[in-house]
Amino acid sequence: MKFRLILLGFLVLFCALTNSNAQSYKDAQHHQCLKCHSNQSYSFTNSVTGKEVKRLMNPYYILDTIAISEGVHKSFDCTDCHSAEYQTYPHQANLKLEPLSTCLDCHGGDATFASYQFEKIQDEFKKSVHFQKYGENFSCTKCHSQHTYKATARNSSDVLEIVDFDNKMCLSCHNDMKKFKMVSGRENPKLVEVHNWLPNQELHFRHVRCIECHTEVVEGLMVSHNIMKKENAVKNCVQCHSANSRLKASLYKYENLQKRSEKGVVGGILSNPSYTIGSHQSPFLKLLSILIFLATLTGIIIHSIFRIFKK
Ligand code: HEC
Ligand code: HEC
Ligand code: HEC
Ligand code: HEC
Ligand code: HEC
Ligand code: HEC
Ligand code: HEC
Repeated sequence: MKFRLILLGFLVLFCALTNSNAQSYKDAQHHQCLKCHSNQSYSFTNSVTGKEVKRLMNPYYILDTIAISEGVHKSFDCTDCHSAEYQTYPHQANLKLEPLSTCLDCHGGDATFASYQFEKIQDEFKKSVHFQKYGENFSCTKCHSQHTYKATARNSSDVLEIVDFDNKMCLSCHNDMKKFKMVSGRENPKLVEVHNWLPNQELHFRHVRCIECHTEVVEGLMVSHNIMKKENAVKNCVQCHSANSRLKASLYKYENLQKRSEKGVVGGILSNPSYTIGSHQSPFLKLLSILIFLATLTGIIIHSIFRIFKK
């Protein structure tokens, strides 16, 4: 028993040592920043009074460490993107003026990332209502945090996860009065009221993305980025609830979901007659309607025969 415990102890120690070597460098760098930027409050030593001070952190500056560790830029140090001068606190005022790289600064024209079509995405994005209205002030980072972005749609095979991840991008602003107001200077319209015409709103928002209805589907682009004016949004149920649903060309075009699109969820909404409006194929209902039709027909025939006889 004792021997086993000792063996286990060694094993744990061994794992800890081999693991930590690779991680420690990055963690040390991250740790310094995240000590403050992953918590509700932070503390520092006031160099004038020499006292320890504790303050609340601006909630928008609290980073989600789990989301960072799952994101595409997880291998970065904070100071790969931000100035090394952030290592001192209070941060210097002029750091606010520091230009930060955009997605295109790093990814534009890079063959490694060609499959993502950054340039084409940018072209489409520039047609969108957001860019048309706010120009450069509405940057890619309004939707894609460089800290936590994860290529969910092309990698996940869980539709609900994709929908949730993508819709959160829109909702983080459209459902956040402060953020929306910062961008637009006015109150955000209540999404629930705007979409009152849609039955089972909650269910729809869990199963389809905002962009399914609000973007133009572009051939050959994984994620449409041209968000159109509200007048052009999809309102017609049949666009989805029909045999050639637009969902096949948008959400379900991803290869990782293809199998499901043939069989799984979308197959479900396409083949399940109660979802596909105008194509009721329930065998029982079909039989019933034929029986009713035949009964009516016989009724009419018998009725006519009696009338002819009466005459
Ligand atoms: C002692 C706590 C503390 C540490 C450590 C810290 N920060 Fe900060 N940081 C803050 C606070 C508080 C703010 C809010 C603005 C302010 O008080 O200066 C902030 C603001 C920021 C901002 C936003 C600046 C702006 O106003 O636009 C960035 C970016 C930032 N920190 C990056 C970093 C990075 C990168 C590191 C690590 C190298 C780091 N911080 C370490 C506390 C800290
Ligand atoms: C891949 C580049 C990149 C890395 C890595 C990165 N940041 Fe940022 N960070 C940005 C950009 C870009 C912004 C500005 C976001 C915007 O304009 O909306 C930003 C903004 C911030 C802000 C201001 C709050 C906000 O979200 O706008 C804080 C605080 C911050 N970063 C802290 C950190 C810390 C701490 C780390 C390390 C754990 C880190 N960043 C790593 C690119 C990066
Ligand atoms: C400072 C430069 C820089 C900026 C800014 C930047 N990226 Fe990246 N990005 C990289 C690097 C380098 C990698 C490769 C990281 C790795 O392999 O660990 C990467 C990886 C990615 C990947 C994964 C590629 C793959 O196939 O694994 C995606 C997707 C991505 N970035 C999207 C974005 C988006 C969207 C933005 C803007 C919101 C952005 N990046 C901003 C440098 C950057
Ligand atoms: C209005 C919100 C919004 C804006 C603004 C936006 N995107 Fe996106 N983008 C999305 C959504 C939603 C997705 C789907 C995310 C997922 O699940 O992978 C996406 C996906 C992506 C992808 C991954 C595509 C793929 O094939 O996997 C890249 C790359 C990208 N965006 C780059 C950009 C760039 C570059 C900009 C700025 C020019 C930008 N985005 C602006 C909403 C936005
Ligand atoms: C089933 C299709 C559909 C889905 C899904 C959908 N919308 Fe809409 N949305 C519409 C239509 C249609 C309108 C126009 C309504 C009108 O004008 O009566 C609209 C209107 C809007 C408006 C304009 C509000 C205004 O009046 O200024 C916003 C913003 C909006 N939607 C955001 C979203 C967001 C964010 C999501 C995801 C959570 C979403 N929509 C999901 C179809 C949809
Ligand atoms: C950072 C904030 C922000 C994010 C993120 C954002 N939006 Fe918006 N959006 C706005 C603002 C502000 C307006 C109002 C534009 C105006 O005044 O015409 C708007 C307008 C709209 C409209 C209405 C256009 C019209 O004709 O009035 C739609 C639809 C819309 N957004 C959809 C989306 C979708 C879908 C996403 C996610 C993929 C998204 N938005 C992400 C801020 C945002
Ligand atoms: C953007 C595509 C899209 C549009 C547009 C759309 N739907 Fe749906 N609808 C869906 C999806 C996806 C589901 C979820 C199917 C499932 O359960 O997997 C759904 C589910 C439903 C359900 C089933 C609810 C339940 O309780 O199971 C009804 C009813 C429905 N939609 C009616 C409508 C009506 C009426 C309209 C037009 C006003 C409409 N839908 C527009 C995609 C759409």
